[in-house]
Amino acid sequence: MPDYLLLQKDLLAPGIYRFRLEGNLGARPGQFVMVRAWPGLDPLLARPFSVHDQESSYFSLLFQVRGRGTKILSQKNEGEKISILGPLGTGFDLSQKGAAILVAGGLGIAPFLFLAKELRKQKKDVFLFYGARTQKELLLLKEFEKLGVKLFLATEDGSRGHKGFVTEPLIRFLENNSQGAIYACGPLPMLKAVGELSRKFGLKSFVSLEAHMACGLGMCLGCVVPKKNQGYLHVCIEGPVVPAEFVF
Ligand SMILES: Cc1cc2nc3c(=O)[nH]c(=O)nc-3n(C[C@H](O)[C@H](O)[C@H](O)COP(=O)(O)OP(=O)(O)OC[C@H]3O[C@@H](n4cnc5c(N)ncnc54)[C@H](O)[C@@H]3O)c2cc1C
Ligand code: FES
Repeated sequence: MPDYLLLQKDLLAPGIYRFRLEGNLGARPGQFVMVRAWPGLDPLLARPFSVHDQESSYFSLLFQVRGRGTKILSQKNEGEKISILGPLGTGFDLSQKGAAILVAGGLGIAPFLFLAKELRKQKKDVFLFYGARTQKELLLLKEFEKLGVKLFLATEDGSRGHKGFVTEPLIRFLENNSQGAIYACGPLPMLKAVGELSRKFGLKSFVSLEAHMACGLGMCLGCVVPKKNQGYLHVCIEGPVVPAEFVF
């Protein structure tokens, strides 16, 4: 796996880091990378992360410390190198007509800065429905606003925006704006709800799936999930982004 220099490390919220790394992956929004931030084989497996942002000379990852791998990654410092394989997988479909309706839950916001940038370059109207547990966990709001993205926020404790799930303001929006495509990333119940809403309102939707991954290359079957009708799909090569109707 090639090594990339860590240029900038920012703590965005407790346990949530953004790393800027030198280089251009040539990624598309929604693709991911496999990361090893440790020498040798302990932990054994590299860990998957979305490409959070990409410019001509750098790319970024946004991650939350969950277990051993992300803890070691979070201890890396500027000037150190990190092994990264990618870009991998299938990104978001940017060829859809009309507005783009982004739906993020928690750390599901990670791939959306890159996606929103590319959609705004295409002069698309971009609406971001973004839910988190509390206001402190709503990240990057100013960066999305600067891009001209219209924000609809929700928190479970009501500390910012709508009190409750992000799908509630989304339903009200779709009742009045039933055109465009939906792009969703976040917890499975949210993705499922988005899949059902897109069917109800007749919109195309794309969901970014999370699965445990071992190889990231379609070789180990570690990431397979059942398809809605029959068979299975490899999240690492046919996804992580798939049309919602494939799985829900
Ligand atoms: C395509 C893809 C993109 C991702 N993008 C991001 C991202 O941009 N930012 C980010 O913070 N995280 C992202 N994740 C999740 C990230 O890969 C896991 O949080 C990470 O692998 C945890 O590693 P760990 O060693 O710290 O935790 P572990 O010790 O391996 O596990 C800690 C906990 O996290 C759970 N977990 C571990 N891996 C996964 C997984 N792949 N899916 C669901 N639950 C898991 C475990 O069940 C356990 O409960 C992504 C996952 C996938 C599949
Ligand atoms: S992670 Fe190995 S097949 Fe998908």
